[in-house]
Amino acid sequence: MIQVETIQELRSIVKRWKRENKTVGFVPTMGYLHEGHRSLMETAKKETDHVIVSIFVNPLQFGPNEDYEKYPRNLQHDFQLAASVSADVLFTPTVSEMYPVPIQTSVEVKGITDVMCGASRPGHFSGVATVVTKLFQITQADRAYFGQKDFQQVAVIKTMVRDLNIPIEIIPCPIVRESDGLALSSRNVYLSSEERQQALSLNKSLQLAQRMAGAGERDASTIRAAVLKQIQEQPLARIDYVEIRDPETFQSLTALTGTGLLALAVRFGNTRLIDNCLLEAP
Ligand code: PAJ
Repeated sequence: MIQVETIQELRSIVKRWKRENKTVGFVPTMGYLHEGHRSLMETAKKETDHVIVSIFVNPLQFGPNEDYEKYPRNLQHDFQLAASVSADVLFTPTVSEMYPVPIQTSVEVKGITDVMCGASRPGHFSGVATVVTKLFQITQADRAYFGQKDFQQVAVIKTMVRDLNIPIEIIPCPIVRESDGLALSSRNVYLSSEERQQALSLNKSLQLAQRMAGAGERDASTIRAAVLKQIQEQPLARIDYVEIRDPETFQSLTALTGTGLLALAVRFGNTRLIDNCLLEAP
């Protein structure tokens, strides 16, 4: 695996692959890689000839009071992890490589970004859509791999690709969890042991909701109330949102008839965690 820092060098590598009629898989990340990222890379490796993994902590997608400055970084560890799944290129552009001049263009996906993380983090999805568009243009990948942990992000990217006719296939990949159920996240490193213990309530509450739905509970507000209660029992938890929505339109659901998306965001101290699952009416 080679590490590439410039857009120009990456373009010339991709050009060579394309001349050889090879397919290109792409896994965009912000680094501090974990098993969730690894699963995306492994899927990409199986499905495409060459895999590019990018590591870029994108300042555009962080709000002014968010953790851009202290976002965890460990390039040496990331290099080893990406090399261990035989990715071909680790693309690690600097901020000035990606944004050599103040950017005057942004990509906005409307509607589905008005709710959940879009409502709590103004400008976040525009920053994501803009950088991902740039990365798609740079990598010219055939397929890009995204985790369902960021369910709304996948929906935003899929919508953008459809609306702007970007020639790439978006492949959603399942959430990877620790053995105790906590969804892997680069931000888990911020948690104290007490916070981490209490954060297990997130996945537990999702499981409770799935059991309720499986047992025939159709009233979304009853399920939501049970989830809220379970999380609120944790003294360090501060709920940002718990919502049950249509997984495609993101309209709020009052009754569970087909498949519902249960998504939540909860703060422990300064750390904001997200998780989600699908609820199936039997
Ligand atoms: P980052 O948070 O590093 O995540 C990179 C990819 O890994 C995303 O597609 C995310 O959904 C996926 N991922 C993270 N944790 C996961 C888990 N536990 N299981 C499965 N997949 C997981 O998401 C971003 O970076 C950025 O917004 C980015 C798309 C790179 C744009 O800057």
